[in-house]
Amino acid sequence: MSARIQKLEMRGIVKRFPGVLSNDHVNIEVSAGEVLALLGENGAGKTTLMNILYGLYQADAGEILINGEPVQIDSPRMAIDCGIGMVHQHFMLVPTLTVSENVALGLPSEKGALLDLEPVSRRIVEIGATYGVSVNPDAYVWQLSVGEQQRVEIIKALYRGADLLVMDEPTAVLTPQEAQDLIVLLRTMVAQGRSVIIISHKLHEVMAVSDRVVVLRDGKKAGEVATGDTNPEELARMMVGRDARPFSREARQFDGDCVLCVEELCVNNNMGTPALRGISLGVHPGEILGIAGVSGNGQKEFAEAISGLRTVESGKVLLSGQEITHCTPKQIIDKGLGFIPEDRLHVGTIPSFQIWENLLLKDHAEKPFARGVLLSEKTIRAHSEKLVADYGIKTPDLETQTGKLSGGNIQRLILAREITRQPKVLVAAYPTRGLDIGAAEYVHEMLVQASREGMGVILISEELDEVQKLSDRIAVFFDGRIMQVLPVAQADEKTLGLLMAGLTPDNQATAG
Ligand SMILES: Nc1ncnc2c1ncn2[C@@H]1O[C@H](COP(=O)(O)OP(=O)(O)OP(=O)(O)O)[C@@H](O)[C@H]1O
Ligand SMILES: [Mg+2]
Repeated sequence: MSARIQKLEMRGIVKRFPGVLSNDHVNIEVSAGEVLALLGENGAGKTTLMNILYGLYQADAGEILINGEPVQIDSPRMAIDCGIGMVHQHFMLVPTLTVSENVALGLPSEKGALLDLEPVSRRIVEIGATYGVSVNPDAYVWQLSVGEQQRVEIIKALYRGADLLVMDEPTAVLTPQEAQDLIVLLRTMVAQGRSVIIISHKLHEVMAVSDRVVVLRDGKKAGEVATGDTNPEELARMMVGRDARPFSREARQFDGDCVLCVEELCVNNNMGTPALRGISLGVHPGEILGIAGVSGNGQKEFAEAISGLRTVESGKVLLSGQEITHCTPKQIIDKGLGFIPEDRLHVGTIPSFQIWENLLLKDHAEKPFARGVLLSEKTIRAHSEKLVADYGIKTPDLETQTGKLSGGNIQRLILAREITRQPKVLVAAYPTRGLDIGAAEYVHEMLVQASREGMGVILISEELDEVQKLSDRIAVFFDGRIMQVLPVAQADEKTLGLLMAGLTPDNQATAG
């Protein structure tokens, strides 16, 4: 096929938001057959630049050229007409509609106002087969896992015939295998003459998928290299301006009572079928318990059941020896549970609230913030300012709407709130997803620090190196069951990999 976009250029792009210069005279270009990676710390201006390309924002200065001709892109509709597709950092799907309906949304239909979904479904299945990104066209989006929702976004862009596909941290929500499949898909696309711009914080992935890398820092282009001429260490240095900090930590052994435990826990998923099939597990005070597993094997439901967001069908949840199985989320928070949810924007924060309001979301009625019915403004301001500074939340002020923060900065906000509340147990679901390298290091240090102070930490993650680095013990989830709980010393990559695939290493050894 011959792509309509042979070369796309963005020249001298400037974008200013109140208090922030988000893009400061940025130049980038990408040609047919090429994957360009955009790299940079949280808040560096990557998403802003791509939102301008997709017509969601208008640049204050600068121009966009396609095949050397200036184009005016005032809306996503125009971007799509130009052959530009985008998969966003935060999903833009309608949960109450099916996959087909979401894909068809906003497209002209031959039947006029009535959507003819038959051909849409067929095409979704075709695209799925071509690129290995299959998903059931008739499923409702609310029934899908985060990873599956991401796949729908990709299919939606491909369906609209994107010649240039922009992907904002597409793999942040994918399993390692899905991420691998995506890399293959992107390379297939560019081999067909399309082009791709991908934003990612994962350097090994940038190395694997891209042809060229542009690094943004504080809204400016800080560097550009051919991927073949660089390495992950150099990219990290270009991004944060320093080398990675060394990290080491001794795994410890714990006896005695668990601060949080579940007994024979059974929970259903959104489809009403079993997600957890009777699991028993506990975390000790001061311990970091890693939960490894490909996402979709019950981890999400586990975290939600513990925090009162999902009904427990049978079994028990105990916090400090007290049963909390059927308590409300508020009661569970008050009893000492902290939660960093997987879906941060919608579960973890209220996007339309100001930053200080979200920082205080769970404590607003408590001393020292409340005096009678009044909130003590001075105390709140000092507390919020300290959190913003300590956790490096990049924002013009405390009154900014939380939904306007960059992805990584929303994550920092939730961490700041949850960790400083000093819960007895902290459930952290994919806590470094979407964070830049420096921020991820910081979160790791915070979690270890929290555990040293006696907090029991449950760390849910798909990043094996993260789980291995931080955990004292690792439980591997598969199909709603626990395959095995291992001390970290016994949890090498091969063993974990087998367990995550539902195989026990012992059987393997006997079989082989
Ligand atoms: N609609 C908006 N209103 C106000 N400020 C905004 C808006 N969109 C982005 N910003 C600000 O512009 C800066 C750049 O944000 P952007 O989302 O482009 O960062 P990013 O590089 O994508 O970061 P991340 O890696 O965290 O996703 C941030 O300081 C952000 O708060
Ligand atoms: Mg972003």
